[in-house]
Amino acid sequence: MAAGAAGSRALLALLVVGAMAAGAAGTSPDIKAHVAEDSGKLVLTCNMSGPYSTIKGHEWVHGDKVLQEDETDSAFTSYTIEGKMEEHSGMYECVYKTSPEIRGQVNISVAPQVTAYKKSEHGNEGDTGVLTCKNPSFPPVTTWSWSKNGESDLQNASGRYIIKSSGNKTELRILKLNIEEDTGDYRCNAVNSYGSGDATVNLRVRSRLAALWPFLGIVAEVLVLVTIIFIYEKRRKPDEVLDDDDGGSAPLKSNATNHKDKNVRQRNAN
Ligand SMILES: *[C@@H]1O[C@H](CO)[C@@H](O)[C@H](O)[C@H]1NC(C)=O
Ligand SMILES: *[C@@H]1O[C@H](CO)[C@@H](O)[C@H](O)[C@H]1NC(C)=O
Ligand SMILES: *[C@@H]1O[C@H](CO)[C@@H](O)[C@H](O)[C@H]1NC(C)=O
Ligand SMILES: *[C@@H]1O[C@H](CO)[C@@H](O)[C@H](O)[C@H]1NC(C)=O
Repeated sequence: MAAGAAGSRALLALLVVGAMAAGAAGTSPDIKAHVAEDSGKLVLTCNMSGPYSTIKGHEWVHGDKVLQEDETDSAFTSYTIEGKMEEHSGMYECVYKTSPEIRGQVNISVAPQVTAYKKSEHGNEGDTGVLTCKNPSFPPVTTWSWSKNGESDLQNASGRYIIKSSGNKTELRILKLNIEEDTGDYRCNAVNSYGSGDATVNLRVRSRLAALWPFLGIVAEVLVLVTIIFIYEKRRKPDEVLDDDDGGSAPLKSNATNHKDKNVRQRNAN
């Protein structure tokens, strides 16, 4: 599968993209649009031929963004992007400032560049698990599929799986999660006319009890603390009472020891 994708990408680098010019058929100018990938750069070009009024400049447009503008009168215009096709796929347009203006379309088309929304997901036993993959690249995905642990496709009909897909996203819902059956690696696969791509999501299912562990831990901690404080307080009480009674006689006590020490020292000296 990886070799196939790499092959189709290499082929894409040489791909000549067709052109589409606005205007009435027959008398309309013809735009040759082209994209080439060369040492880390992408060069988009438009070359117009046929009847057209004076060119007062050009614009390169992507979505509603103007990427480049000039005021030359050439029938040829180019726009360079640093990077790879996979990172810049999409629909681009070269605009000739004539009256009326003439537009050429340059599509950078790649195999699906699929990523998992999250590489690992976890759910609780009995809950619904949701795994999501997306494809931001152009053109959109025509077919999405899901498989589990390298086995056969997961089908919507099986009852517990619900698959919802669009051109740039797919979502697999697994109803009533089961620890033994549903834990594993899920692979989403995307296909468009330029190739395929996939991503893997690891799903872990925890038991309901596991979800309670952090809470039980806190409860246990609080119980231990309360017990320790309780025992400490109980042991401390009698000491405190003694200390208070001792209060007045404390100097006496220390005098007594001093005497004793002296006696010992004297005895030792003798
Ligand atoms: C570019 O892609 C769009 C959308 O898929 C399509 O309608 C259009 O014909 C393509 N243009 C060229 C020049 O291939
Ligand atoms: C543009 O196209 C014309 C033929 O229509 C060709 O003679 C010319 O060399 C092309 N220009 C470039 C820069 O490719
Ligand atoms: C995906 O497609 C939806 C509509 O089909 C669009 O609203 C959304 O912006 C698209 N997301 C991306 C990342 O292209
Ligand atoms: C799966 O079923 C849901 C409804 O249960 C539906 O909305 C969805 O389109 C179906 N998906 C596929 C891929 O058939």
